[in-house]
Formats: sequence, C-alpha cells, structure tokens
Amino acid sequence: NSVPVVTIDGPGGSGKGTVCGLLARELGWHLLDSGALYRLTALAAINHGVSLDDEASLEVLAAHLDVQFVAGDGDQVPPGIILEGEPVEKAIRQEEIGLGASKIAALPAVRSALLSRQQAFAELPGLVADGRDMGTVVFPNAPVKIFLTASAEERAKRRFIQLQEQGVDVSLDRLLEDIIRRDEQDANRAVAPMIPADDAIVLDSTKLTIQEVLARVLEEMRKKA
Ligand code: C5P
Repeated sequence: NSVPVVTIDGPGGSGKGTVCGLLARELGWHLLDSGALYRLTALAAINHGVSLDDEASLEVLAAHLDVQFVAGDGDQVPPGIILEGEPVEKAIRQEEIGLGASKIAALPAVRSALLSRQQAFAELPGLVADGRDMGTVVFPNAPVKIFLTASAEERAKRRFIQLQEQGVDVSLDRLLEDIIRRDEQDANRAVAPMIPADDAIVLDSTKLTIQEVLARVLEEMRKKA
C-alpha cells in the first residue's frame, strides 16, 4: 500500500522508544509500539493463569487481546494503554513483563497472531514503527529502515534512569543482567530474530543524544524522499 512507513528496530534501551515518539509527533504520523503488544500478551497470560510455555493458549490470547491505545494530547494527558478495561502502562513496563514478553516472542504462533494487528497501524499520513522485526518481517517494504543500537552498559544506565523516573525500583546490576539475557533471547531465536534488515541503516546511539539520533533519522528520511 502507499502509506509511508519508517521502521526503527533495535534492542531495549537503545533510545528507539523515545526517538519513535518524538518522530511520530514531529511528523504527525501514527506510532506502533510493537513491544507493547508482546508485553500485553505476557501480562494477559499472567492475569489469566496461562503458562508462558503454552503456545496454543498464548496464540488465542494474542489474537483476541482486548486493548485500546489512548493517544494522549502531547503535553497534558500522557498516552495510555488499556487492557481489558484496566490501565496497564506502568504494569507492562516492569522488567519481569519484559522478560516474559521476550520469552513468548520466540513462539511463532504468537508472532503470527500479532502480525496483522501490527500491520493495521499503517494508516495515512504515515507510521513510525518501533520494534525488533519491523524492517525485516512486519514492514519489509518500508523505504526507510533504521537499526538503533547502543552498548549494553549504556542501555542499562538509561533504563535505570527511566525506571527511576517512573518510580519503579530496580538495581543497575540486575538491569544489565536482564538486558544481556533479553538481547541473547531476541537475537538468537529462530523466528524473526533481532537483526538489522539488509537495507537498514545501523546507528549506534551510545555517544549520541536523542536529538542527534532524531536528526540522523530525519536526514535519512529526506534522502529517500
Ligand atoms: O521493546 P520492548 O522492550 O517493549 O519489547 C519487549 C519484548 O518484546 C522484546 O524483548 C522482544 O522479545 C519482543 N518484541 C519482539 N518483536 C517486536 C517487539 C518486541 O519480539 N517487534
């Protein structure tokens, strides 16, 4: 279809969530936080007592997720996520849910159950897609694909500050361990592993500010326009 899509893939803490949010706002485009869908599926499973190994039940849960994304108004009202009538923005950001999401994200039936839901986010005037396989699997024809990375230590530090701001209590060492474990899980899975698409631009954000990353992404978009 003719909806412009820019994909930003990479590991957690690379800054892609923040960059995607700012980019979507600057362009006035829609935003897909695909990681949230995996997190929501993991949370729904825990809430319903479904084992994170039970692929068949997880597939059904993923296909029928009762979720609403509330846009917020930029400044006053923050964006929110409602699962089965409950606000869950904070709950799904817990590290435990992140690890659960990473675990179920390795299951092919879960991934395919979430595929069309993700693709449905591509609506005019355009979409910024944030994830691990946006450029490789979900939007392979996107004209601009970015793969954003940063060192594990830097990502742990960023996540630590971010979680502290949200009032979530964690230790930095524990975060670094979780990040390394999740990277391994995501990069080594058989289905849709976290790798740059052949035509992706790889950006290392370790020594860049968010504004510098944003400027680089906009520059790449101008080159392709
Ligand atoms: O980006 P976020 O940390 O919210 O993603 C949580 C988990 O969901 C990731 O560790 C990854 O395993 C999974 N995920 C995925 N494919 C995506 C987005 C997230 O497998 N497109």
